[in-house]
Amino acid sequence: MNLYSKSLNRLDIDLRKVERINRLVITNAYIYRYLDLIIKKYWVGTQYAITDEVFELLSAIKNKHLMELYEIFTLLSDTDYEQKHNDYLRGKNSFVMDGYTAKFYQTDDINPLLENSSYLLTNIEELKELVEIISHKHIIMEDTKIENAIIQRQGIVLIDPDFYHLSTKSIEEIRNKNYRELFCLLRNIFEDYGEDLQYFMHLRGDNALEKINAMEQELKRVRRPIDLRK
Ligand SMILES: Nc1ncnc2c1ncn2[C@@H]1O[C@H](COP(=O)(O)OP(=O)(O)OP(=O)(O)O)[C@@H](O)[C@H]1O
Ligand SMILES: [Mg+2]
Repeated sequence: MNLYSKSLNRLDIDLRKVERINRLVITNAYIYRYLDLIIKKYWVGTQYAITDEVFELLSAIKNKHLMELYEIFTLLSDTDYEQKHNDYLRGKNSFVMDGYTAKFYQTDDINPLLENSSYLLTNIEELKELVEIISHKHIIMEDTKIENAIIQRQGIVLIDPDFYHLSTKSIEEIRNKNYRELFCLLRNIFEDYGEDLQYFMHLRGDNALEKINAMEQELKRVRRPIDLRK
């Protein structure tokens, strides 16, 4: 078996050398590491997979907070490849997506809440910019949570865009939804790294963006390491 791109070019990946990352498959995919790549292989149909269209749009975004997406692939045996290649040459391309490749991000063992005070503020500001970029591509973000983010010293990276989807809603509605996703992720981070969640209930704002802005104001006000209850 080998991995092939949409135009049936063989990806330069030695499948004997890939290492499985996720032991327990909770949802729908096996994740492997190969050098500085991850390979995500869906194991049930592709109804929970990213769509081709969204993959194209997201992989064109070069932003340090969004996982770099490389290629969607199909897995073929040598004999299947012959058949598919012949079909392809005759213009009968029946590509079935089996998964995608992306950049592998090492998780750093840091507590983002205890990093230099500018860490969170910079990340929040830059993640807001990313939300704007994604929203303007009419993509709704979904499933943005701490399990789908990698905390690195250089910044927080969003991974797993399986549930991201295109929407015909207005940009305003898409932005609101995407800011809610970002707000959830930030709340997750505070939850997981041991801050008082009460704080979030006191954040004023009519929508998620206003709440995020209020959070930033609070972060600027409070000394580090932060104790938001003061
Ligand atoms: N680009 C990446 N760099 C580093 N680790 C990754 C990357 N992508 C995925 N992982 C690791 O694999 C896990 C599962 O990946 P992902 O979230 O894409 O799949 P999933 O569909 O949610 O699968 P699962 O149900 O097993 O969590 C992530 O939580 C993360 O630990
Ligand atoms: Mg996930």
